[in-house]
Amino acid sequence: MSVQPILSVRDVTVRFGGVVAVKNASFDLMPGEVLGLIGPNGAGKTTLLNVVSALIRPQEGSLAFEGETITGLKPHVIARKGVARTFQVVQPFKNLTVMQNVEVGAMFCARDRGKSQIRALAVDALQKVGLTAKADALPSQLTLSERKRLEMARALSTEPRLLLLDEVMAGLNHTEIDRIIGLIREINRDGLSIIVVEHVMKAIMAVCDRIVVLRFGEKIADGTPEEVTNDPHVISAYLGERFVRRQAASAGAA
Ligand SMILES: Nc1ncnc2c1ncn2[C@@H]1O[C@H](COP(=O)(O)OP(=O)(O)OP(=O)(O)O)[C@@H](O)[C@H]1O
Ligand SMILES: [Mg+2]
Repeated sequence: MSVQPILSVRDVTVRFGGVVAVKNASFDLMPGEVLGLIGPNGAGKTTLLNVVSALIRPQEGSLAFEGETITGLKPHVIARKGVARTFQVVQPFKNLTVMQNVEVGAMFCARDRGKSQIRALAVDALQKVGLTAKADALPSQLTLSERKRLEMARALSTEPRLLLLDEVMAGLNHTEIDRIIGLIREINRDGLSIIVVEHVMKAIMAVCDRIVVLRFGEKIADGTPEEVTNDPHVISAYLGERFVRRQAASAGAA
């Protein structure tokens, strides 16, 4: 029997007035897979994550999660089914501590869990992202890297099966990026399927099993990192010749 995708996106179109943000996009995500979603600014990546997490209802197309149609469901319903996300612009509750922020995430999807179980989920999520020591801090006291990891902890505390990450590495230095790469690998090893939206190609190449490339809302490539980064269309639309030269140089050095 063939394995069914954990997520199927079929012929999704999203329009904002005259702007077609996503145009007839289709892709599948297999269980346990890490899928990179890349493309130039304004390509429709965040919009597509908003469609999957139900913040935006597409004008056309359909979505299925674990074989069940989820098109048109409300965001909290999708979240309770096991889809969690981070936001490109982090949005913590400013007056709550780091721990309380994560507990809100856990509570949101609590299903039938009690207070102590929610605390345990939050403790576990903070530990995973390396923020245990900052549990009592306010979000304003965190560095950008820590705020990004808080965003990940909030998502992880809901015990998702599908995690959508929207530019969790933007603005971070190499050490911080490496830390998040390690974290993504670790949570993927725990069995999570993940979609990574990211401009940091080093990270995309390090964590993704497969990459989908969007341009002006349209999917222009879908394949292994090697296939996609050797695709002349993708090079001219997004990666540029500099990326190709850098890749060749690092392959030569290896
Ligand atoms: N709420 C909105 N109202 C109107 N237009 C929007 C809205 N959200 C996105 N758009 C437009 O839709 C297109 C896709 O935007 P989106 O934010 O999905 O791109 P992106 O690939 O995430 O870009 P970036 O890499 O800069 O984050 C852009 O032209 C954007 O201006
Ligand atoms: Mg975006």
